[in-house]
Amino acid sequence: MLTDFYGNQLTTSTGLARDSYDIGLRAFLSANYGAMEAFSQAIEADPNFALAYLGLARALMSSGQVADAKATLGKAKNLLAKVTDREKSNFLCCELILSGEAKKARIAVQNHVSEWPRDAIIAQMSTSVFGLIGFSGKPDRENDLLEYTAKLLPHYGEDWWMMSMHAISLCETGQTLKSMQLMEKALNLNPRNANAAHFFAHILYEENEVSAGRDFLAAWMPNYDRRSLLYGHLSWHQALWALHDGDESEMWKIVDSAVSHVNASSLPINALTDTASIYYRAKLAGYSVSAERWLELSKYAAEKFSIMGQSFADIHAALAHAMAGNEEYLSKLIDGNSGFAGDIVPAVAKAWKAISKNKWDRAREELETVSSEFERFGGSRAQRDLLEFTYANVLMRIGEKEDARKILLERRPNFYETVPIEGIASY
Ligand SMILES: [Fe+2]
Repeated sequence: MLTDFYGNQLTTSTGLARDSYDIGLRAFLSANYGAMEAFSQAIEADPNFALAYLGLARALMSSGQVADAKATLGKAKNLLAKVTDREKSNFLCCELILSGEAKKARIAVQNHVSEWPRDAIIAQMSTSVFGLIGFSGKPDRENDLLEYTAKLLPHYGEDWWMMSMHAISLCETGQTLKSMQLMEKALNLNPRNANAAHFFAHILYEENEVSAGRDFLAAWMPNYDRRSLLYGHLSWHQALWALHDGDESEMWKIVDSAVSHVNASSLPINALTDTASIYYRAKLAGYSVSAERWLELSKYAAEKFSIMGQSFADIHAALAHAMAGNEEYLSKLIDGNSGFAGDIVPAVAKAWKAISKNKWDRAREELETVSSEFERFGGSRAQRDLLEFTYANVLMRIGEKEDARKILLERRPNFYETVPIEGIASY
């Protein structure tokens, strides 16, 4: 029986199908364009290769083509009679995710990796800040992620993917030095692993290394295919550093060419959250953000996230709706309670509404109730700085500048001196 890149047995006896599957697997794990094409070639080489259909389904899911992913999963289902237990379990994990059963999927993935820790394509489902653990809504999910990757790491040896995944767990629990050491190893093993490049950017962000960050991505991005999963989000990182550097024109140039939903090739969740985030962070820095921008974004949010449930997207949609005065959609998020952090989305939505009307006292009341739970919304610390910096700004607006600075010092000390909030510097 043939095996994949990680030594897992594959139910195919066609060498070309296995080779194409491995190419797809590596493209998928490194967030590079081409996974779908490679998995499709594997299917062409062996139309009875169940795992190739599952790989294709994952790649389709990752590019937001959910209907196609479900159809592909259906084809895999017809081939399950003759496959191994691992491949059957792989199918189950995909099926649960695709049917929106996130909690069951998280448990199924945990069971799967307990038995087959080197099945990276399934292990991947719970890694990083947008995975099943990242979006679990649990209070301690950053430590859960660290525990998850720490258990897997010893099974992978010198593997560029696993190293990068454990390194981001370290980064997001404040262990930036350890994270940097591991991430450098991962990048040396595979310099074109976009996940590692992305996470390296996070380490530099956490250390507030603005120039180094800008230089790193400026050198790395030109060889990254624009159609790849992380192109838009890495552009957001670039735009954010331009903002932190006071380079407003470069910031808008990047936002308009590669971050905003208008021109980005990103998934809707990235296009919405990254655009809303950079708009409001630009506003915090004192730049003007036109009403048209907010209106466009609110329209996009209403179209792509019309139903409450993806809490990380919901808090960003609420921001866009509040700034655009889109009461119809904002009220759904204020009155609703659905999603992994659906119980605390309304407080943030109410805060955005208050902020849009300059009711700073009200905004403070709302944010105060949830400020200890921001982690539950998911996303990275860099992304949640939207809330951290907004909270500091709200405190400043009600005349509590000392409190604002104290909160920054307690919660985001590396940004204490240079946070891009207009008027917050004490000297
Ligand atoms: Fe990021």
